[in-house]
Order: sequence, then structure tokens, then C-alpha cells
Amino acid sequence: MDRAALWGWKGRGRTRHLPYRRKPGIMNRMNERWSQIRRRLMDWYDHRQREMPWRGEGDPYAVWVAEVMLQQTRVETVRPYYRRWMERFPTVTGLAAATMDDVLKAWEGLGYYARARNLHRAAQRIVRDHQGLVPNNWDDLRALPGIGDYTAGAVLSIAFGKPFPAVDGNVRRVLARLFAVESPIGKPAAQREMRNLAAHMIPPGRPGDFNQALMDLGAEVCLPRTPDCDSCPLTGDCLAFRQGRQADFPVHTMRRELPHYDMTAGVIWGPQRKVLMARRPWQGLLGGLWAFPGGKQILDESLESSLCQEIHATLGVRVAVEAPVATIKHAYTHFRITLHAFHCRYLRGKPQTIGCAEWKWMLPEEIQKLALPRTDQKILNAILGE
Ligand code: ADE
Repeated sequence: MDRAALWGWKGRGRTRHLPYRRKPGIMNRMNERWSQIRRRLMDWYDHRQREMPWRGEGDPYAVWVAEVMLQQTRVETVRPYYRRWMERFPTVTGLAAATMDDVLKAWEGLGYYARARNLHRAAQRIVRDHQGLVPNNWDDLRALPGIGDYTAGAVLSIAFGKPFPAVDGNVRRVLARLFAVESPIGKPAAQREMRNLAAHMIPPGRPGDFNQALMDLGAEVCLPRTPDCDSCPLTGDCLAFRQGRQADFPVHTMRRELPHYDMTAGVIWGPQRKVLMARRPWQGLLGGLWAFPGGKQILDESLESSLCQEIHATLGVRVAVEAPVATIKHAYTHFRITLHAFHCRYLRGKPQTIGCAEWKWMLPEEIQKLALPRTDQKILNAILGE
């Protein structure tokens, strides 16, 4: 069934219908408080909102790019990336026509590279199927690669003024405290509840501002560890505050310690001071980025021997592992690594794309033009500084 129809978006004339079904219980109890909360929050936002280059943008493409960049990344980190991206790819058509290498290079350092690949693919789809115009309805937006409930809600509310909620981590924390939501926020049931709450709170006239006001409140006031309740416009409405239980919300499921892996990478020196680089497979972590070849340390093997075997498994070449270059610690979403990088001397074998998408011999100075993971950028800096 068409989700828009399910949520009452179609065939209902001019009446405003919320995109989420009303739920009894908590909804009814809270109903009389919605308008008060809306008014206080919007007053606060009108005086305190953060300046952001994509705010006040009527261009849905600009809003979409900003919202994708802002997922799991802080506003201050995003600003320069956003500016450069919009200079480089100012329109959907411009982005669709760019090469994947250019797109990855513009994203380099932001992490979660699938987001960049999906933006690129989605832009190509928009050119092919929607005359280059970002769709203004839920179904068409959600059908695009990389656009989930959050991004669709943000684009529809901010760029098109439609009353869809956009619930990110900050908003979830605000709502969990405001309504003392006892279920762990990572669980689908709690996430549904949050989206319902947010959908019911949205004021008819300013859905985009309202969603962003909740985001700003979460980012600036309703902080994870030290909520600044003295400056919060919603303390009078906040169940957690009234119960003196701000620290109890949001409820988290027990977080397991992230696993740790020792990894290796080789700077493989060949003829004419050139270094052998490999492009990572397109699917998976850091897909399509260029990297110094290597892999996980093999059980019961030394770092050097593991590196030798991983390079052979990736490229089919034999190397001699020599001096260490650098040791780099890095945390990904689901694991942490210590990356041990070594200089390697190329011995024999023609490189092949066994465990990589592409390979290239390059001068160290040329490697700077490639899109590299953060860890490999550090290895490159180390060899350029030597
Ligand atoms: N985080 C993600 N999107 C945001 C936005 N539009 N405003 C503030 N914080 C955000």
C-alpha cells in the first residue's frame, strides 16, 4: 500500500492531515499541551536559531545535500564541506554529471562514504526520472537511494513546507525527556513513538522551522550529559525536568564495547619512486576510496607476515616488508582499529584486481589528488613529511 495514502496525504482535499496515524493514550493526554509547546519553542527559535548557510534556502537540492552531510556529523564540521560542495556541484544536474572520483574527493574526511555515493546515484535518477527536479512528495523521495525517513521528512518540511517530522538523534533526546519516554530509544517501537510525537507537534504554518527548532534545542540546550535546563524554553512542559530525572532519559540499551582489530597497510615502493595504490571494492566500508593495500592481522601471524599475505591476496604481488611508517588509531561506528603502516619493497608479480577494484602506480605527490580514508591520509602525510 502506498505510504502517503496510508498516512492520509492523498485524496483528502485541502484538509491538513498528519502523516502519522493518531495513537490513543499518551497522544490524548498530551494534546492540550501541543500548542503551548509549539509557541514556546518557536519563540525561542526566532531569537536563538543558529546561522546556517542552508537555512532560508528554498532550493530543495541545497537542503537535501546539507541534511545528508549533517547525519552523524556536527554542524561545524559540515560548514566548509557544504560550501565547497555547492560551489563544485551547484545543481542536481551538475552533481549527476560529475565523476564518482570527484564526488568522493569532495566528501573526503566526512566519513560514511555510502552517503556520497548515494547522493550521486540519486542525482542521476532525478535527472533521468524527474527532469532534474528534486521530488516534492514522500513516495518519490523515499524511493531514491540513500533517502530514509529522516532525510525525506527534512527535505519535505524545510524546502517544501510540508508537515512531515524529521527526527534525528538530537530530536529523539529532546522528545525522550519532554515526554519521559521509558522505552530504549534505539528500539524501533520507541522510534515510531518519537515520530508520532513529532508529527503531532508540528505547527501547520512552519513545519521546517519547527523541525529545525527541535534539532537546535537538542544540539545547544538539551545536551546528552549536561542539559542546560535553565535556558530551556520547555522546562515547564518537560516531564523529565518535573520529575528531576533529566539524566534518566533517553533510555539506552546497554552499549557493548566496540571490538578492536589490528590492521596493516603497506606503502609499496616500486620503480621510479612510485607507490602501488589500490581502490577499495565499491561495496562495503569506504567503498571506492583509494588506500594503501593491507588488511587485518592474521591470527598467530606477525604484522609483517600478515601484511605480506594481505597484499598478495589483494593484488597478487610479492613485497618485502621493511621499516614502520606510522601507527594510527581510528574508531568506526562498529569497531576500533590500530593501523600499523610499513614501508614495503616491491619484489615481483604484475598487480591484479583480485581483492580491489583498481590499482595504480603513483608518485606520492599525485596520491594527494585521490579520495583517501582518514587513516590513509595520515599515512600519506607521514611519508610526505619524511
Ligand atoms: N541537524 C541536521 N539537520 C539540521 C538542521 N537543518 N538544522 C540544525 N541541525 C541539524
